[in-house]
Amino acid sequence: MFVTFEGIDGSGKTTLLQTLAESMGECPLCLTREPGGSALGKRLREIVLDEHTKGLEASAELFLFLADRAQHVAEVIKPALERGELVFCDRYTDSTLAYQGAARGLDQATLMTLNALASHGLEPDLTFLLDLPVALAKKRMLQRKGTVCQEGRFDGYDASFHETVRAGFLDLAKRHAERFCVLDAASSLEELVQTAHKHLQARMDKKKAF
Ligand code: TYD
Repeated sequence: MFVTFEGIDGSGKTTLLQTLAESMGECPLCLTREPGGSALGKRLREIVLDEHTKGLEASAELFLFLADRAQHVAEVIKPALERGELVFCDRYTDSTLAYQGAARGLDQATLMTLNALASHGLEPDLTFLLDLPVALAKKRMLQRKGTVCQEGRFDGYDASFHETVRAGFLDLAKRHAERFCVLDAASSLEELVQTAHKHLQARMDKKKAF
C-alpha cells in the first residue's frame, strides 16, 4: 500500500510520517521522500533546494522534480510495493500540482499528464494532507531554525505564495476526497497519530478485503 504525506512547508508532515511509522509495529515499511528518495534524487535535491537556484524558471524547476520522481518510483517505490511493503512517501505528485501548478502558475492539465509520465502511472492509495494556517507554519519553521540546518529555498517565498499552495492542496483534497484524509495540523502530535493510524488501518483492511 502506497501512502503519501502532503502539506505546506512547516506543516509537520515529516514528524507525523516518522511517528506514524514507529506505531506500525512489525509491518514492513519503506520510508522515503521527494525530492531526494533515490541516488540521483539526492543530487537533484541539492540543486533544486539550493538558495542559489532562486531564479530558476518554473518549468526548469518542474522538470527537476519530475526527473527525481521518475527515478524514485522506478528505483525505490515500485520495488518496495512489489516486496509487499507499506510505503510512506513525504511529498509526491500533489506537491507538483500545488507548488508548480497553483503557486507558480503552470497549467494543471499539462502537469497531470507529466505527473502520470513521471510516476509511471502510480497513484497513492491514501494521502494525508496536513492542513495548517501559513502564519502558524511560519512560526514553527522559525522555532526549528535554531536546531536544524535549513535547506529550504522555498522558505524564502512570501506568505501569499504559501497561501496559494495551501489553497491548492485543499482544492485537490476536495476533488479527490476518496483518496485524501485532511488532518488539522494544529492538533497535538498524539492526536494526529491516533487519527492517521485509524484511517490507515481502515484503508489497509479495505484493501485486504478486495
Ligand atoms: P523539503 O525540505 O523536503 O521541505 P518539506 O520538509 O517542507 O517537505 O523541500 C521540498 C520543497 O520542494 C518544498 O518546499 C516543496 C517543494 N516541492 C515542489 O515544489 N514540487 C514538488 O513536486 C515536490 C516533490 C516538492
